[in-house]
Amino acid sequence: MVGREHERRVIAEAFRAARSGRPSAVLITGEPGAGKTRLLEDAAGGLATAGAMVLTGYALDLGEGAPLFLPLARALAGVWPGLRRAEAPPDDAARVLAAAGMGPPGTPAPDLLALPPAGERLRLLDALVDVCLRLAFDRPLVLALDDMQWAAPEPWDAVAYLVRAAGSAPLLVLLAAREEVLASATGAPAAAIEELRRLRRLTILTLGRLALHDVERLVAAWLGDPAAPELARLVGRRSEGNPFFAEETLADVAERGLLIRSDGAWRLKPEARADLERPAMIRLTVARRLQRLPDPTRRALAAAVRDDDLVVTTSHIKAEFLRRDGVPFSDRLTVVEHFLRHGNTLTHVMIATDPVYLSEPMINTEEFVVMDRSNTNWLYNCETAEEIPRLKHDVPMFQPGQNPHLKEYADEVGLPLDAVRGGAETTYPEYRAKLRQMMGAK
Ligand SMILES: Nc1ncnc2c1ncn2[C@@H]1O[C@H](COP(=O)(O)OP(=O)(O)O)[C@@H](O)[C@H]1O
Ligand SMILES: [Mg+2]
Repeated sequence: MVGREHERRVIAEAFRAARSGRPSAVLITGEPGAGKTRLLEDAAGGLATAGAMVLTGYALDLGEGAPLFLPLARALAGVWPGLRRAEAPPDDAARVLAAAGMGPPGTPAPDLLALPPAGERLRLLDALVDVCLRLAFDRPLVLALDDMQWAAPEPWDAVAYLVRAAGSAPLLVLLAAREEVLASATGAPAAAIEELRRLRRLTILTLGRLALHDVERLVAAWLGDPAAPELARLVGRRSEGNPFFAEETLADVAERGLLIRSDGAWRLKPEARADLERPAMIRLTVARRLQRLPDPTRRALAAAVRDDDLVVTTSHIKAEFLRRDGVPFSDRLTVVEHFLRHGNTLTHVMIATDPVYLSEPMINTEEFVVMDRSNTNWLYNCETAEEIPRLKHDVPMFQPGQNPHLKEYADEVGLPLDAVRGGAETTYPEYRAKLRQMMGAK
C-alpha cells in the first residue's frame, strides 16, 4: 500500500483514544477507486495485529427490500460460534438481534413485547450495544464496515447510538463510504454523521488523489520493478491519482504490449505514444470522470445519450436576457443542448425556443478542443475539489469574542497583540520605540 500516511496515523490515533476509553468512529470517504476499501482493510489488519477484535462487514447495492442491518449482521455473523461464556449475550439480547437479522443463526424470535415502534427500536439498539460491550470486555473491539453508501438508515443510526452508548468501552468503528453520503444534507447518514460530529466522536477522512511519487510507487509495485518517469507520469495523468484507474491504465498498456523492460526499469515503447490516444484509453478517462458523478446523475446521463450524442433539455429557466445583445428570454424558454464529439473536438449546440420573445429557435454553437496538456479537460483547465471535508450546512464560525485563535500569530512571533494588528502606525520606524516600551512593560 502506498501513501495514506496521514490517514493511517489518524486511524491509529483514534484507536489509541478508543482503547483508553473514548469510543469513536472514523469515516473514510472518497470517489470510487480512491482506495477506501484498501485503507479499511489495511487498518483492520493492523488493528487486529495490535490486539483488537476486528469484525468486518459491508453493505451491498441490493435496492429496496434488502436486509436493513446487513453490514452489522455480516460483522457479527463470524462471532457467534466462537463466543466464550463471558462474552455471550443473554438469550433475550440474542433473540432481539436475531429478529432483526443480526443474531446467531437458528435463534427463536423473542417474546413479543407490547412496545411502541420507538421502544422496539431502542430495545434492538440496546441488544446490539450489549453484545458489543461484551465483545469489548477484555480487548478493544473494532467494527470495520465498508460500502456504507449502500447501507439503509438503520445501521448508520445503530453506529451512532453504539458509539454514544458504549460509555468508556474500547470501541472503534471504521466506516467507508463514497463521498455522496456527505453531500446529502438529509437522511440517515447525515443525521448519524452530524450526531457523531456533535459528540466529537467522528473523524472524516477524505481520500484525495495520490501524489505523483505515490503513483510511481504504485506503478513499481504493480510491475514488480521501477518504472521510467515518463511511464509513471502517464499513469498519474491518465488516472488523475486515482489508484483504481492507475491500475486499469497499467493493465491496459500492459495488455496492449506497449511496455518494455530495459536498464532495470519498465518504460513505454517508443512507438507507443500514438497508441495512447486510442479509444480504449480515452474511454478509460471518460469512465473515470463518469464514476465520480452521483448515481442518479449517471443514470440520467445514460438515459440521455443516444448514438454518442448527448442531448440535454432544460425547461423552467428563469426569465433572463441574452448577454450578447440583450434580447430578453421569458420564463417559458426551453433550451435543448447537443454535445457532439468528433475525435478531439467537442461541439456544443444550444437551441433556445421562446414562444414569447423569439420568432424562431435561436441556435448557437461552440467548439471545444481537448487539452493535451495537464489534465485532458475539455472546458477549463481546473476542477473543483473538496479540500476541507465538512457537512454542507456546517458554517465554521465563532461567536463574537470567542475566537480562540486571535492571538495565535502574536504568540507565535512573541509580539504584543496590538503590534500585530496595529495598522499603519506599526509600519513606521517610530513605532519601534513604542514597541520597545510595550515589550518592556510586559
Ligand atoms: N494506497 C494504495 N496503494 C496501493 N494500491 C491501492 C491504494 N489504494 C487503493 N489501491 C488499489 O486500487 C484499487 C481500488 O481501491 P479500492 O480500495 O477498491 O477503492 P474504493 O474502495 O475507494 O473504491 C484496488 O486494487 C486497491 O488495491
Ligand atoms: Mg470499495
